[in-house]
Amino acid sequence: MTEPNPLFQDLDSERRAPPCVLVVFGASGDLTKRKLMPALEALAANRLLSSAFVLVGVARTQMSDGSFRQVALDAVEKPSAAWQDLASGFRYVSGGYDDPATYRELGRVLDAVDAERGTAGNRLYYLATVPEVFAPVAHYLADLGLPRPLSEDAFVRIVVEKPYGRDLESAARLDAAIREGFAEEQVYRIDHYLGKETVQNVLALRFANSIFEPIWNRRYVSHVQITVSESLGVGTRGGFYEGAGALRDIVQNHVLQVLALTAMEPPATVDARGIRDEKVKALRAVDILSPEEVAHNVVAAQYVRGWVEGEEVPAYTEEPGVSPDSRTETYVAMRLRIDNWRWAGVPFYVRTGKRLPKRMTEVAMEFHRAPHLPFGADQTRGLGSNALVLRIQPDEGITLRFGAKVPGQVLRVRTVSMDFSYEAAFLEEAADAYERLLLDAMLGDPTLFIRSDEVEQSWRIVDPILKVWGEEGRPPLAGHLAGTWGPEEADRLLEQDGHEWRSP
Ligand code: BG6
Repeated sequence: MTEPNPLFQDLDSERRAPPCVLVVFGASGDLTKRKLMPALEALAANRLLSSAFVLVGVARTQMSDGSFRQVALDAVEKPSAAWQDLASGFRYVSGGYDDPATYRELGRVLDAVDAERGTAGNRLYYLATVPEVFAPVAHYLADLGLPRPLSEDAFVRIVVEKPYGRDLESAARLDAAIREGFAEEQVYRIDHYLGKETVQNVLALRFANSIFEPIWNRRYVSHVQITVSESLGVGTRGGFYEGAGALRDIVQNHVLQVLALTAMEPPATVDARGIRDEKVKALRAVDILSPEEVAHNVVAAQYVRGWVEGEEVPAYTEEPGVSPDSRTETYVAMRLRIDNWRWAGVPFYVRTGKRLPKRMTEVAMEFHRAPHLPFGADQTRGLGSNALVLRIQPDEGITLRFGAKVPGQVLRVRTVSMDFSYEAAFLEEAADAYERLLLDAMLGDPTLFIRSDEVEQSWRIVDPILKVWGEEGRPPLAGHLAGTWGPEEADRLLEQDGHEWRSP
């Protein structure tokens, strides 16, 4: 039997969450307030949550049910009546994550909620804590038998936030800890980029049209550029970021997921298995860099004081929570190869950084030049290569770049752009990534979540780089002047191949 095609089904009529308790570990934290509660409120306001939906917060901070309900209301500017209604049933459990008493209390609250609110034993656990306690929480849940559904009809799932481990080995350990109590089908690993409409549109563009796929390969594509750029600095997350860096924070997950969707083969069906099987095959085909190759294919940098969007901004080492002699990279550029028939010889250049000139994520397919130009050199001076650019955010859309005749008596060709804009084409507003993913998790649709073999393959690509960077994962750093597109070393990476980064 084929699974439903959740990416292309009628969302409004079909997709309403069943009765369910969402247990959020890390309920007093930033992610819960900034992302989860607003997403849940939007789902409630759009009548996509069941009236038997209960949020149970768990965290170390002491708080009453009443205060937690107030936090839920304060997390959104104008709470809808539906959210206010639901919030009156929210519960809170305070306690240490390594204290069995916390989980016994949680068990009691869950039983009470089932009895009082009709949540039918359906449970979604959500790990939104610091990553160090993911494994202990999973362990104690298993210890109390909480991953086991209470009846045949009930479901129990666990959503795990990133980072999923610090390297290949720790990711495997984390997986083992989670799998102590939960089967793989119960584990929903989040990468919020997959919840973005435009990331899903990579699939729609490639596999719902007949004109792109025939040129989506080495015969026509000269190289691919994937950019995830942010204009913001590390902000208040210095403490966390110091131990992460751009390679772990963005490349291992968001960049490699976008790369997998761009490079994968067409799946037979657009369901969880079809898509994830093809993504994992694409990741498996990414060539692993040898220690010598790391030096020539990976550039790391850290931002120094500069100007972004008209404002002077501090260096990374001046940010709160960051050590003044920090060696953590805030920028990474890499050249990757995908060793298969479709992509052999086509470099995939990826880059990500904080304090770049603007916030922008895009995938650019750059095509080979025409094999022969029957014009004089003068006539084509303004002609660049053809490109198809998938603008993931902001200004979501697609641009096709090609040459056109400049109006006038002589034949001169210059590059022009044809644009598709989401905003102009559709009236519907895209749901926030977390709205989509929370609803999917409640509905039991894992298509947009990461399977364990994908995590493993992503770390397999990143791990050798971390190893070269040494025990502490500290790379040789180039300087990156805040507000510029990255260090010269990153430009040279492409110049060696006769290419250059797009400067959008
Ligand atoms: C998160 C990273 O996963 O993604 C952050 O931890 C980063 O460092 C964020 O700022 C970017 O997400 P978005 O949706 O704003 O592109």
